[in-house]
Amino acid sequence: MTSLTKKKLAGKVAIITGGASGIGEATARLFADHGAGTIIIADIQDELGHQVATSIATPDCICTYVHCDVSDDDQVKSLVESTVQNHGKLDIMFSNAGILSKSDQTVLDFDFTQFDRLMAINVRGMVACVKEAARAMVDGRVRGSIICTASVAASQGTKRRTDYCMSKHAVLGLVRSASKQLGVHGIRVNCVSPNGVATPLTCGAHEKSVEEVEEIYEAKMVLKGVHLRAGHVADAVLFLASNESELITGHDLLVDGGFQP
Ligand SMILES: NC(=O)c1ccc[n+]([C@@H]2O[C@H](COP(=O)([O-])OP(=O)(O)OC[C@H]3O[C@@H](n4cnc5c(N)ncnc54)[C@H](O)[C@@H]3O)[C@@H](O)[C@H]2O)c1
Repeated sequence: MTSLTKKKLAGKVAIITGGASGIGEATARLFADHGAGTIIIADIQDELGHQVATSIATPDCICTYVHCDVSDDDQVKSLVESTVQNHGKLDIMFSNAGILSKSDQTVLDFDFTQFDRLMAINVRGMVACVKEAARAMVDGRVRGSIICTASVAASQGTKRRTDYCMSKHAVLGLVRSASKQLGVHGIRVNCVSPNGVATPLTCGAHEKSVEEVEEIYEAKMVLKGVHLRAGHVADAVLFLASNESELITGHDLLVDGGFQP
């Protein structure tokens, strides 16, 4: 895990979508450990989001929860606007909220209703966060960092969950294009691509315990004897959010232990 000898995000203002749980929550905690001055946890799980924010907040770190359904552009716009109004700027957007398909469907039984809902969150929501964050950074002349959560499914086909695979491919296209367009403003855009992490998302989809899900995913890693945890992904996000990655943009950082499907 990351050394705390140097605070990598001192005084930074960050928004984390999907920050009430899993990868987003782990990242919020790591950002606080690294001196972030303000962390806004944006999610739709209000009770959990408030609990997580309260447990992170310290006299040196403002951490608040904001209800924001990322599939609604107006809510995303207001999330970013209120952050800038209340905290003066936006340095980091971690656009991470996402869902998995409910069933193990292949293209043969493709469900368009499920597809529309998934794309509204995983793709439209992701674009809304990148767009509004970038506009705030350009207006505020902030050389910010935008990080999206993609997946190992962003760069290869999958045997099931076609809609999810398509949505993560779209995230990669967004990151690659936005990085080319926003570089002129000094704004970096990257993504992290985890293999499987046992979070409420994956445990719920598999209907299995954390231990069982970790076993399933470890079998798909070249690296053995270690489980991929949310903290490993948070370490990668911290790197992309901090000045340590000052010259890195348009990059897909795999956090997968050497994924072998
Ligand atoms: N866990 C994995 O194995 C894995 C692998 C690759 C990519 N990912 C991606 O990581 C991201 C985080 O997933 P996680 O595993 O931490 O899952 P998680 O379920 O623990 O966290 C996701 C969070 O997103 C929130 N969310 C869902 N819909 C939302 C909406 N419309 N608006 C705002 N927030 C919403 C949920 O309430 C939840 O708190 C997702 O984009 C997921 O696709 C996860």
